[in-house]
Amino acid sequence: MIGDKMYIVKQKVNGGEYYYLRKAVREGKKVTSKCVAYLGKSLKGAEIKKKEIEEKLLKGENKNKNMDEKNKEDKGNNKKKMIHKDLTIDELAVFCKRKGFVYASGEIYGGLGGFWDFGHLGSELKKNIKENWWKYHVYRDDLVGIDGSIITNPKVWEASGHVKSFVDVAVVCKKCKNKTKIDKHEVGKAKCDKCGGEFENKGEFNPMFTTQIGPIKGDSTLAYLRPETAQLIFADFKLIQENARLQLPFGIAQVGKSFRNEISPREFLFRSREFEQMEIEYFIEAGMKCSHMEETKGINILVYDEYMQKSNSEAEFIDLHDAWKKAIIKTDWHAYWIAQEYNWFLSLDCNSDNFRIRQHCSDEKSHYAIDTWDLEYKFPMGWRELQGFANRGDYDLKQHQNYSKQSMEIMNKEQKKILPHVVCEPSLGVERAFLVFLFEAYYQNEKSEVVLKLNPKLAPIKAAVFPIVKQPEYEQIAESIVNELRKDWNVLYDKSGSIGRRYARNDEIGTIACITVDEQSLKDKTATLRDRDTTEQVRVKISELREIMREVINDGANILEFGKKVNTRIK
Ligand code: GAP
Repeated sequence: MIGDKMYIVKQKVNGGEYYYLRKAVREGKKVTSKCVAYLGKSLKGAEIKKKEIEEKLLKGENKNKNMDEKNKEDKGNNKKKMIHKDLTIDELAVFCKRKGFVYASGEIYGGLGGFWDFGHLGSELKKNIKENWWKYHVYRDDLVGIDGSIITNPKVWEASGHVKSFVDVAVVCKKCKNKTKIDKHEVGKAKCDKCGGEFENKGEFNPMFTTQIGPIKGDSTLAYLRPETAQLIFADFKLIQENARLQLPFGIAQVGKSFRNEISPREFLFRSREFEQMEIEYFIEAGMKCSHMEETKGINILVYDEYMQKSNSEAEFIDLHDAWKKAIIKTDWHAYWIAQEYNWFLSLDCNSDNFRIRQHCSDEKSHYAIDTWDLEYKFPMGWRELQGFANRGDYDLKQHQNYSKQSMEIMNKEQKKILPHVVCEPSLGVERAFLVFLFEAYYQNEKSEVVLKLNPKLAPIKAAVFPIVKQPEYEQIAESIVNELRKDWNVLYDKSGSIGRRYARNDEIGTIACITVDEQSLKDKTATLRDRDTTEQVRVKISELREIMREVINDGANILEFGKKVNTRIK
């Protein structure tokens, strides 16, 4: 592996500059390039991370070459080794419950299928995912966000086609009684995914939840809980475009709850009845070219198009730019948005090997879609949809125009009225992203203790502050640090238990840094700052802690660069 050449590349994303580590891999006569890791925003930091990764890989190679030698070396340097642990979805659910990330909704009454409550850490992680997604996608010149209502005029759902065409077929396996849904075109063909048995058809159903507006019987209106966040972007399109003075091409984003009455919610958060979506509708004038295609170059991703699926071929690594040039991905904008989203996951420390893109086959596309790709993730249950990218064309605006009798046309640059097209709709479920970040972050140290290596931006708790002993002079300083850091972040104060236990408790929930007030703090106003991922510590000035944490969280700076290394027995 180390024989493959690794190099740093800078990529511009939404005006920001990001560094990635790429690797040239020779496959037969062909040399391809593959993204290995996200390296942060500064070149200096990127070079340090590259060195660390190369050292790690070298160690890995040595391990394979000579295990005995490695064991000897380990005993000698006494360093903590962290290994990524693959969990099943059920194991992750157990961890999430035990640590306060996610509970079955209303658990004391036995829970409710497909509904989940996010606990004190889960709610923070979810909030951080949404905030980070919003900053990355919406804070750019061509995007604005909205926050529409969950229940809206039911005509919206008639116009969108959801009332008539958002239908699945409910089936039950005759052998193992597995309940599931299939597409209409699969009736008579699909077999049970659990046991291969035949399905009994239970008829068509519409997964939209219904409710009544108005409390008086006979004087109320039937309404729907939205099954996607997208529709109010279309229904409010003219207002948003005019008020925000948007010129094509532009996008409108929304994050919020969606509801689907799934026949068989399953696999923990993966298929829920209440979930959240982060969606963008990106509008162009038909045929308008994407001017950001440079950003798709060098992004080598596993591609599984319709042809490969239908011919039972394997998915192939293809550069996204080439995939567009070869018309595997038909429009430039589609390739561009896939690159954006994939980069977002990599920028939050996900492993590129766990992602691929899959094209929807002609018979599985939604009623509104011209071409759809999914970004899939290698979940423990197999490759599954993480995010959809549909080309919806002018379907939605046309439908709302017809139903509302209001023009959805806008002026183009030549002052001609045109109906914009949604060339790409990146649509991501918050809960699926939540699962991905937890799977990716789950490591164990050599004592088999969990270390949740969440990206600093996502970590639910940014720092934990400890007085080394329970005495007022130590506690006062620790409390003042907590108060200062809480002006910006969720920070934990913990004065109970051994210092080692306090470190371990925080590693397990992904706290980025542990700050300890010790004897020296009383003398020189310094504290020790411990890095979760290496367990190394440095001594820093208390007055600089807030700025240090800001650089670590916002800019991806390395904690260990901020002070002199401290030699301590407890890691
Ligand atoms: N507006 C397009 C749309 O809603 P979708 O493929 O039905 O497309 C988009 O949903 C994303 O929403 C999916 O890729 C997935 O991440 C998430 N999602 C859909 N149904 C879900 C469910 N029942 N539970 C959790 N997430 C779901």
